[in-house]
Amino acid sequence: MKTLDFDNDGIVILDQSLLPDKVEYVRCRTIADVAGAIKNLKVRGAPLIGVTAAFGLAMALAAYENSQGTMPEHFERARAQLASTRPTAVNLFWALERMERVFKEAYNNGSREQIGKLLKDEASKMFAEDVAANQALGENGQELLAAGSRIMTICNAGALATCGYGTALGVIRAAARRSKINRVWACETRPVLQGARLTVWELAEDRIPVTLICDNMAAYVMQLGQVDAVIVGADRIAANGDTANKIGTYGLAVLAAYHRLPFYVAAPLSTLDLQTRAGSDIPVEERSGDEIRQYRGAQFTVPGADVFNPAFDITPQHLISGIITEKGVLRPPYLETLNKYQGSGNRCSASQRENQF
Ligand code: MRU
Repeated sequence: MKTLDFDNDGIVILDQSLLPDKVEYVRCRTIADVAGAIKNLKVRGAPLIGVTAAFGLAMALAAYENSQGTMPEHFERARAQLASTRPTAVNLFWALERMERVFKEAYNNGSREQIGKLLKDEASKMFAEDVAANQALGENGQELLAAGSRIMTICNAGALATCGYGTALGVIRAAARRSKINRVWACETRPVLQGARLTVWELAEDRIPVTLICDNMAAYVMQLGQVDAVIVGADRIAANGDTANKIGTYGLAVLAAYHRLPFYVAAPLSTLDLQTRAGSDIPVEERSGDEIRQYRGAQFTVPGADVFNPAFDITPQHLISGIITEKGVLRPPYLETLNKYQGSGNRCSASQRENQF
């Protein structure tokens, strides 16, 4: 299924907030539309958020008119609006920085049409790179799995969360092609239910056997000996390997360690943030309490009940058996193995950034 498209009249996105009940595409014609779609989880998943924002910037420049101030001012307003949508997934900032580099290089030399085309080309390049990275990391990851594997996952790190193929689900897809997957245990992923709504739907479409469990059943399923490995996606991987991913991931990592199961993170290099030293420095998004109090209008608790709704948690690096990337499976010590990838896909350092501009 296509998650994102771009034409002369804006961006078309698959509205993931309606899945699996409705498969509906919505058109974003303004930066406010794109920012709203990201904030409201119509578009979600770290890699897809990044590439959608990149297309958003290309669209903003295509719509530039002199009345809006200078072109760099217009670009900066759009960039800032997109950057303010969701703080945790580093792919958003990685994509915006890449687009900013292209804009700054093109600005002094090109016409508005040329700059618009260069930005659109860059976003299209990111889209293609993401699909290729996912396919490569899927191949690398499937080698870790034996025939008959039973994999537990959380949230949706699939084709829906990316430009195609998926990260954690990319590994599962590549393994399934080799008939290695016996079963996927999909945690429902309260409160937004990405596991129940998206992962189950996506895997069922591909005829990969999937069983849905409530998040609080994961320990028991492991105790029953029904899990061989846990594979999750990532929103940001710090320089020491600490990883931000959907709330509940840390709990699964602790459970996997207790049950002596391998716990893998699958992510493209665009998810590395070597400027961020450790997990404690990663900003964790807190979302509206109504996501916990109610679901699609149905109230679960006392109206206005006090709630805490962090959208992500941080898994410490020592609980991660391996980080599956398009360049191979990275193993501890992550401070060494991740650092080799400085500059190759991940965000550049502040000094590199200065030099480029
Ligand atoms: O809040 P979401 O749905 O955007 O959270 C998504 C996740 O946590 C995914 O696991 C992560 O972005 C990796 S997607 C390949």
